[in-house]
Amino acid sequence: MSFELASDDIIVGRPEKDITKYGAKGTGFLAKVVMSSGESPVLGRKVLVDLAAPHVVLICGKRGGGKSYTMSVFMEGFTKLPVDVRNRMSIFVIDTVGIFWSMKLANKEEESSIREWGLEPEGMENLRVMVPEGKLEFYQKNKMPVDGAFTIKTADLDPMEWFSMFKLGWNDKESALLLDVVEKAKDTFGTYYGIKELKSTIDLLPDYDKDTKISLKNRFDVAESWGIFSKNGTSVREMAKPGTINIIDVSTYGQVLGMENIREIIVALIGKRLYEERMLERKKEEITLISEGEKKNDLPMIWMLIDEAHMFMPKDRPSMALDVLLEWVRVGRQPGLSLLLATQRPEKLHPDAISQCDLFISMRMTAKPDIDAVAALRPSYLYEDMDKYFGRMPRAKGYALILDDNSEKLWLVKIRPRTTWDAGKTASAFKK
Ligand SMILES: Nc1ncnc2c1ncn2[C@@H]1O[C@H](COP(=O)(O)OP(=O)(O)OP(=O)(O)O)[C@@H](O)[C@H]1O
Ligand SMILES: [Mg+2]
Repeated sequence: MSFELASDDIIVGRPEKDITKYGAKGTGFLAKVVMSSGESPVLGRKVLVDLAAPHVVLICGKRGGGKSYTMSVFMEGFTKLPVDVRNRMSIFVIDTVGIFWSMKLANKEEESSIREWGLEPEGMENLRVMVPEGKLEFYQKNKMPVDGAFTIKTADLDPMEWFSMFKLGWNDKESALLLDVVEKAKDTFGTYYGIKELKSTIDLLPDYDKDTKISLKNRFDVAESWGIFSKNGTSVREMAKPGTINIIDVSTYGQVLGMENIREIIVALIGKRLYEERMLERKKEEITLISEGEKKNDLPMIWMLIDEAHMFMPKDRPSMALDVLLEWVRVGRQPGLSLLLATQRPEKLHPDAISQCDLFISMRMTAKPDIDAVAALRPSYLYEDMDKYFGRMPRAKGYALILDDNSEKLWLVKIRPRTTWDAGKTASAFKK
């Protein structure tokens, strides 16, 4: 894509002064503006989205409306950035359904419509599908494409995270034992311990009764079976290589009893580590800018894309990932941490994730509680209530409203077709 800004292109998410300075560099082709009413409206100007600065993007819409599809269009946008911009960022995608691996392949199914948009079907090369280490064999056995495995460093869990993961309260006997076990493990192993070491430490503590010990051991056994904790853990720096897109596939952890928390813990710990490391890195960048006249860093800016975001940032229950992600939402701009959240249930999403987003993209919504939840976004520059805009949208897939805080404008658009293969299609009983 050219860096020149065609006179009638629109850039969302980028302030006017940056458009003057950078033109269209660092943007991705997202959509075209809808020019007429009706079910097959005329499309006009191209809509490009700023990917170079930190953002909180929220994508809403009802089931099957095109949220995951639009996330993929963003991911393709990152891939097509010029190398110098692309290498300044790394993308993490939290894949709860296991659908993004197929972006390695070209979209042959929608070839004609892709060409109509002036694009070509093509797969992405910089995509790395990462699965929990303990699940690697399952993926390999089932011939699913995987590029690597990841683990979480056991010592990264703080006491509150252990409690929350094991659903323990301060008054539970296991909690006191757990605190002592972790303390003792730290004395013995430093930060290099896994679940096995924690289990063996239980037996070294004389002050607890047998039942409490068995109960905690059982919990450790379950945690071990998740195949996600290790002594060393995968370093987020290792994963966040410049210009890469990391698909963190957590889809094997369904909503099975006792497993609800694993996805949260994965997002919480990856998010926490990335936050800490970027904070450090941002200082380095500023120092090199002052001393050498150019920003240099060892860890690129980060975008985290989270599908089904209400699972991780719920409004009405505690979640291990919530606090970490709210920190990203509130102060991520300075260290260069961006979030793209997709949800079909904005009503279930923490209200700060809605109110703090600077780019709101919404497919049609019909449920009143969900519309009410995003209606709180209605800024002073809108003339009508949000439900009026939703009511006038075409019903076909791919149409979306974009509310852009930077330009203070609302657009009705059609999201462009994706150039990569879509594995998230609705299931059908027909073979072809
Ligand atoms: N912009 C688009 N252009 C063409 N087809 C689209 C577009 N957006 C969505 N679709 C079609 O709709 C299907 C469903 O989209 P998608 O999987 O993104 O829905 P979703 O909003 O993520 O749903 P869910 O809430 O169930 O996860 C896609 O597989 C695709 O066939
Ligand atoms: Mg989806």
